[in-house]
Amino acid sequence: MNGSTSINRRRFLMIAGGAIGASALMCGGVTILTNQTPGVNYIYASCGKENTMQTVLVAYASKYGSTGEVAHAIADQFCARGMRADVRRVEEVTDLSAYDAVVIGSAIRMGRWLPQALSFVEKHVGRLQQMPTAIFTVHMLNADESEASRQARAAYVQPVHALFTPQSEAFFTGKMDIGNLNFMDRLIAKMVKAEDADLRDWRSIQAWADQLALA
Ligand SMILES: Cc1cc2nc3c(=O)[nH]c(=O)nc-3n(C[C@H](O)[C@H](O)[C@H](O)COP(=O)(O)O)c2cc1C
Repeated sequence: MNGSTSINRRRFLMIAGGAIGASALMCGGVTILTNQTPGVNYIYASCGKENTMQTVLVAYASKYGSTGEVAHAIADQFCARGMRADVRRVEEVTDLSAYDAVVIGSAIRMGRWLPQALSFVEKHVGRLQQMPTAIFTVHMLNADESEASRQARAAYVQPVHALFTPQSEAFFTGKMDIGNLNFMDRLIAKMVKAEDADLRDWRSIQAWADQLALA
């Protein structure tokens, strides 16, 4: 009787341990995957030669991929100027020590930078305050030069400015592809009467990257 009780207890502990381990793994997996939208191709790229004078990180936060493509276009301009550049999702970057400068970009969602972009800034703020930095914001609304739009754009980046002061910043119009949105986002897009459009102005994106000093 005692023997079977102890075997049962051991088995119970093994099963419970396995279940806890599995759920911890699943939760970790869920945490890692939360910011990824199925079917979206998030850019992960590097360009330029090793051992160049300046290595720049272009870190971005995106839900549907368009901000990553903007980040990629910015990096390509840096490499055309002889720098080396890595394009990474903010979630993929743990250490800034390999970089001489950092450019951070985020899509806007419900009037805000994506939370993972702000977490990235919070986590690395000490280092960001000591190196050349720039930020860019990708959005669809408030793109004109009216006072209301200017204020809305300023509000988009106010939480970033509360943490550190980038040397340069830009706002770029983005892309809306309603057919690719998940159910909730499609609902929101329909509520605000959004329409399909790719408003990314590659010339102004490249021009901004070209004039960034990052020194
Ligand atoms: C659910 C949802 C909410 C959005 N909210 C805003 C917003 O408040 N202001 C804005 O200017 N653009 C808003 N947008 C537009 C996105 O910022 C734009 O589509 C951007 O290009 C998306 O970037 P991504 O493809 O990297 O996720 C929203 C888009 C979606 C799908």
